[in-house]
Amino acid sequence: MGKIYKSITELVGHTPLVELSNYEKKHELKATLLGKLEYFNPSGSVKDRAALNMIEEAEKSGKLKPGQTIVDNTSGNTGIALAAFGHAKGHEFVTFLEPGVSREREDIFKAYGVDQYWFTDISERVKKDLEAGALNLEVLEADVQAYADENGYFYIDQCSNEYNTEAHYKTTGPEIWEDTDGKVDIVVLLAGTGGTISGLSKYFKEKDENIKIIGVQPDVNSRLDANNKTGNTIDGVFPIDINGISIIPLINKFNTVIDEIVDVSSEDAYSAAKELVRSDGIFIGQSAAAALFAATQVAKRPENEGKNIVIIMADDGTKYLSTNLYK
Ligand SMILES: Cc1ncc(COP(=O)(O)O)c(C=O)c1O
Repeated sequence: MGKIYKSITELVGHTPLVELSNYEKKHELKATLLGKLEYFNPSGSVKDRAALNMIEEAEKSGKLKPGQTIVDNTSGNTGIALAAFGHAKGHEFVTFLEPGVSREREDIFKAYGVDQYWFTDISERVKKDLEAGALNLEVLEADVQAYADENGYFYIDQCSNEYNTEAHYKTTGPEIWEDTDGKVDIVVLLAGTGGTISGLSKYFKEKDENIKIIGVQPDVNSRLDANNKTGNTIDGVFPIDINGISIIPLINKFNTVIDEIVDVSSEDAYSAAKELVRSDGIFIGQSAAAALFAATQVAKRPENEGKNIVIIMADDGTKYLSTNLYK
């Protein structure tokens, strides 16, 4: 039977869960690795879920008016999703982009016809904080809000927006549960705003508190704030734990339960991605690569024999062709 959709907004979610069968064999793994391929979303990443849910909830509440321009600070994927669904629903989008992210993101914003600024353009004090390597999210949010107010725009604020987390609680978690018939033992992923990890942790802990949530973070040498000169970064994500303190806003807001935190270097992440595209033809982005490397180490532990390990693969490799990921 034919099926024609009316809008890309109808195509968000229901992404496939795929066993990394050849990769498992190559590593002689006795656990099962399941990749949740979030790049099947219409604008190409896991952030489609949050973007659409935040727009729809803002429209419903009347805070986002018909035709009103949306603005947000983003490392790229949320902005691309806000531009895509914004346009599909009659809103322009203005982005403040995080410095240092892959060049492809800028080109994609140009293609979407988006007005593009950098975090450094927000205000003098945000610029100074960035130069000192001490970005203060509250200051950044206050100054983007002031910019939005001046221009009559709607600041959607993914870093504080509960509908970011809710998108994963309502859709990503239940999809994984259904596709595995409830046989989920471990979920492995990275965090930017923390929307995905807070929504999934809440969902799975309610289902069964024994399901483990493993948060992966770029190790100290992969961080721009560690004076990383290699250019080997993991875009779109941040460390989860810095000396016992989290800077991830939605992990803090929801007191998110994370059972374990695993550090991964960019180089290890990149080599795992290179292996996977050759073994199984699955072409992943940087944060998915870090999650894959961490999940492989977790799968090798004797206590995890026979377990199902779900890896959130946030986006694909095309946005990283200018980086060292596949070089
Ligand atoms: C590539 C990539 N991976 C992971 C994430 C983290 O997602 P979240 O903001 O839900 O923590 C992002 C966020 O933008 C991302 O762009």
